[in-house]
Amino acid sequence: MTSTGSAIDTDCITLTRFVLESQRQFPKATGDLTQLINAILTAIKAISSAVRKAGIHHLYGISGTANATGDQVKKLDVLSNDLFVNMLKSSYTTCLLVSEENETVIEVETDKQGKYIVCFDPLDGSSNIDCLVSIGSIFGIYRKNGDGPPTVKDVLKPGTEIVAAGYALYGSATMVVLSTGNGVNGFMYDPAIGEFLLTEKNIKCKPRGKIYSLNEGYEKFWDEPTREYVKSKKFPESGKPYGGRYIGSMVADVHRTLVYGGIFMYPSTTEAPKGKLRLLYECNPMAFIMEQAGGLATNGRQRILEIQPKEIHERSPIYLGSKDDVQDVIKIFEKHAK
Ligand code: AHM
Ligand code: MG
Repeated sequence: MTSTGSAIDTDCITLTRFVLESQRQFPKATGDLTQLINAILTAIKAISSAVRKAGIHHLYGISGTANATGDQVKKLDVLSNDLFVNMLKSSYTTCLLVSEENETVIEVETDKQGKYIVCFDPLDGSSNIDCLVSIGSIFGIYRKNGDGPPTVKDVLKPGTEIVAAGYALYGSATMVVLSTGNGVNGFMYDPAIGEFLLTEKNIKCKPRGKIYSLNEGYEKFWDEPTREYVKSKKFPESGKPYGGRYIGSMVADVHRTLVYGGIFMYPSTTEAPKGKLRLLYECNPMAFIMEQAGGLATNGRQRILEIQPKEIHERSPIYLGSKDDVQDVIKIFEKHAK
């Protein structure tokens, strides 16, 4: 009997199977990337489980105190970071890690080192944790070039060097969106079998959307191009205005932009001239995914993926999403630069 017609798909494509098959196309591949992505998936499963029972287990905001059963509990963001760091170190595939939660680069113990570098935000959207709004994890994977011990220089690479990037969205379901540089695919988590299953194949972002997304509360602080762009969407010369949506969780806002089209923005403000979002583990992985899906990502003047980072927690303004929508922003920036 084939799997067709059966209630259970006995030949489903799990994320691991998908990555294994993709790696087969490279005869020299060692399987390390599959192992590394598997380590990230283990962390994501554990975070997803913790997010789902955070209320019951009092995982909100009480770092270091005991829960009802007397166990030590950690805040969700601390727990998520520990999971990422531990799983990545013990995968034997990484040498350097950059986490939003750690001030300095983490160097993996020499006897556990491998050739990959991972930059990640283990739990993004912290202001949404306590009110049960969607949150996520973001990661970008790079290869270390050359021999010799790894140094900070090895992590300060532009996003064009990314080998693979993705995010996990802890929303009404948990989904991982991943690109290994050959398109974008989405994998829905099936808690019954503990696997991520390929459900959204070769995701493409529409060339133009109908939604803009940014924190309008800061309008007073925006730069002129952002002000002009948003005004053009709210008061178009012809046609309907765009809809506005802003969750305040980058993963959720970017995922909606990827699926429905439109534009997500976190601009430069007078208060924060480089914006808020971090280049290495927020902007770059999302820009990589968006470009792989046919969209664009810019800081207004430069492609996000071409920015040469100077320090690991560097910030960048960002506009990303549907190609034509991002082009509209770029044109306005060009006009203002003249
Ligand atoms: P965090 O890393 O402290 O969670 O901050 C990042 C989050 C993003 O998910 C989101 O896009 C942005 O902050 C929202 O910021 P704001 O509240 O300024 O609009
Ligand atoms: Mg963050």
